[in-house]
Amino acid sequence: MARAKLLRVLDGETLSPPPLWLMRQAGRYLPEYRETRAKAGSFLDLCYDPELAAEVTLQPIRRFGFDAAILFSDILVIPDALGRSLRFVEGEGPRLNPLAVEDIPRLDPSRAEAHLQPVIEAVRRIRAGLPAETALIGFCGAPWTVATYMIAGRGTPDQAPSRLFAFRDPEAMDRLLELLADMSADYLLRQLRAGADCVQIFESWGGVLDEAAFRRFAIRPVARIVAKLRAAIPDAKVVGFAKGAGAMLDAYRRETGVDALGLDWTVPTDVAKRLQEEGPVQGNLDPLRLVAGGRALEEGVDAILGELGNGPLVFNLGHGITPDAPIAHVEALVRRVRDFKA
Ligand code: CP3
Repeated sequence: MARAKLLRVLDGETLSPPPLWLMRQAGRYLPEYRETRAKAGSFLDLCYDPELAAEVTLQPIRRFGFDAAILFSDILVIPDALGRSLRFVEGEGPRLNPLAVEDIPRLDPSRAEAHLQPVIEAVRRIRAGLPAETALIGFCGAPWTVATYMIAGRGTPDQAPSRLFAFRDPEAMDRLLELLADMSADYLLRQLRAGADCVQIFESWGGVLDEAAFRRFAIRPVARIVAKLRAAIPDAKVVGFAKGAGAMLDAYRRETGVDALGLDWTVPTDVAKRLQEEGPVQGNLDPLRLVAGGRALEEGVDAILGELGNGPLVFNLGHGITPDAPIAHVEALVRRVRDFKA
């Protein structure tokens, strides 16, 4: 069977036009998502319902024919599996029981396998429902990013609670991150064995760390995950999306061992070009160009294709699609990328 385009690019091939998918492509900008979400009840109920999670994963594939589907779930199912009482407050975001240093020795990963079984079942159903040429991406949050939500108990603008935690007790932070890395590696391996073709690690909050802290708390635990994956599945393909990592992106690839770098929209094209000389890159259209449409969208797409389209590129946004993105603009984006010839 022919290898999916996304996987060929992750192998290092250049394809013209490049394969295309969008972070958060299953979401509130789609009426069919909102309908399924209403049937499920809460967002977390949807994540743990294999049939409905598979349905919303497949919706954007049916509508737009993207080259990859991404498992519908959330990075915070890992702390949920640890019993940190996760809930999502409508219009505000996640809330968890804030984690203190004393709680770390009591964290018990033994319930995770059973707790996450519905997600693994969703992976199996999605793969069965996808066209062969469409890749299925599994994912998890990077340990540092997941830890920031566990420690603050919510999203914060600069992750000050977790940075202070890490500077006051770095050994405790190491222990927390190792536990999350080991759980995440097991979780990704189960996704790969259930039918995911590759995985992406979401490091949304790496950009708040100084260099030494970035190496210790962001790079080191992700390197641990990648090493565990490769020990079990030597050719496992991994994308690392380290939002805001800027000047540390090159080190992030070399020192974690990820195959491809996901780039946010603030990475300049000449920097992206240099990173692409070392391996595949993914990105990096500003999601608000998609909301604005018209010239803003066309110029943004053309700049990425013009600079990165003759090397290994996976076209994507630089972060998740927002609920106010018009469907007609997504259609225009797909047309413009598909019309590209290097
Ligand atoms: O990309 C996809 O389509 C796959 C699904 C996916 C979701 N979350 C679904 C979701 C993925 C890959 C994520 C990752 C995730 N979740 C990250 C890393 C990427 C990033 O955005 O930085 C983070 C930090 C989270 C935690 C999280 N989940 C927050 C902060 C929020 C609230 C903000 C919001 O957009 O509402 C969520 C909720 C969430 N995760 C939604 C979806 C579709 C919205 C929930 C809803 O339907 O009401």
